Amino acid sequence: MIVVTGATGQLGQLVISQLLARGVPPAAIVAAVRKPAKASALAAQGITVREADYTRPDTLGPAFAGAERVLLISSSEVGQRLPQHRAVIDAARAAGVAQLVYTSILRADSSPLGLAQEHRETEALIAASGLPHALLRNGWYTENYLASVPAARQHGVFIGAAGEGRIASATRADYAAAAAAVLTQPIAAKRVLELAGDTAYTLSELVVELNRQTGASVRYQDLPQKDFAAALEGAGLPPAFAGLLADSDAGAAQGALFDGSGTLGALIGRPTTPLAEALQQALAV
Ligand SMILES: NC(=O)c1ccc[n+]([C@@H]2O[C@H](COP(=O)([O-])OP(=O)(O)OC[C@H]3O[C@@H](n4cnc5c(N)ncnc54)[C@H](OP(=O)(O)O)[C@@H]3O)[C@@H](O)[C@H]2O)c1
Repeated sequence: MIVVTGATGQLGQLVISQLLARGVPPAAIVAAVRKPAKASALAAQGITVREADYTRPDTLGPAFAGAERVLLISSSEVGQRLPQHRAVIDAARAAGVAQLVYTSILRADSSPLGLAQEHRETEALIAASGLPHALLRNGWYTENYLASVPAARQHGVFIGAAGEGRIASATRADYAAAAAAVLTQPIAAKRVLELAGDTAYTLSELVVELNRQTGASVRYQDLPQKDFAAALEGAGLPPAFAGLLADSDAGAAQGALFDGSGTLGALIGRPTTPLAEALQQALAV
């Protein structure tokens, strides 16, 4: 039995689709979710839905009962994640699972990104748990940057602070395919997978591609990290989140979002989704 936490989230839903596509029967999948009422589409596919709230450890033991493998999808509650993840790891150990798989961040052990801190600490907890585990060190989602495209088209400028940093992003669907692959491969004591797109681009190149596909003449404006954070805040983002995004772009400028290993494509058995294709799909929506 494979338990997927955060299964009502964007990545979680895609992982479940990919598990089904790989022939895992619905009856062997548990969607462990914070709000079971949000999981009716999963239940309709014959998938068992169990309540699993990272902040309520009493829900986690029953959610993991009988599980062979647990995929811990990192919480979206940045800043609260360490105690939440600790509760999941403790429950997985208590349930005696054979493998814990965790969605981490690219090069969690050395990444300069502020976002990496909670992942680094979670990885340490997982190692200390003694559980056989796989760390899916996911790189940047292409969707993160595509979310800025509508505003860029409106204002004629795409702002960022990534300089000439090359970004080897991949789509959520690519990372979900990787998770499903690992969850259906033989269990090893420890796997650490640095996962990123096969191809990389700078934000200037992203804008060139945007203009090529739309005929627009958006320009890329690179800002100092502080100014970028202020601009994001001015656009309505909460200050802490604006700061994290600006910090991530500054990390990208240093190469923190680049990886040329090709591990993700090899794992999923196909090339990762190119930027141009992801952009085309986003523009079509
Ligand atoms: N690599 C990247 O570029 C990147 C970008 C964004 C996020 N991430 C990380 O990857 C994770 C998955 O991404 P995503 O796009 O699927 O994010 P998402 O759509 O926001 O999904 C996050 C999931 O976490 C669940 N969750 C949050 N707090 C929880 C709690 N207390 N107990 C149980 N579940 C909880 C949410 O439950 P609900 O469905 O009830 O809200 C949701 O299912 C994120 O949570 C984040 O850690 C990575």
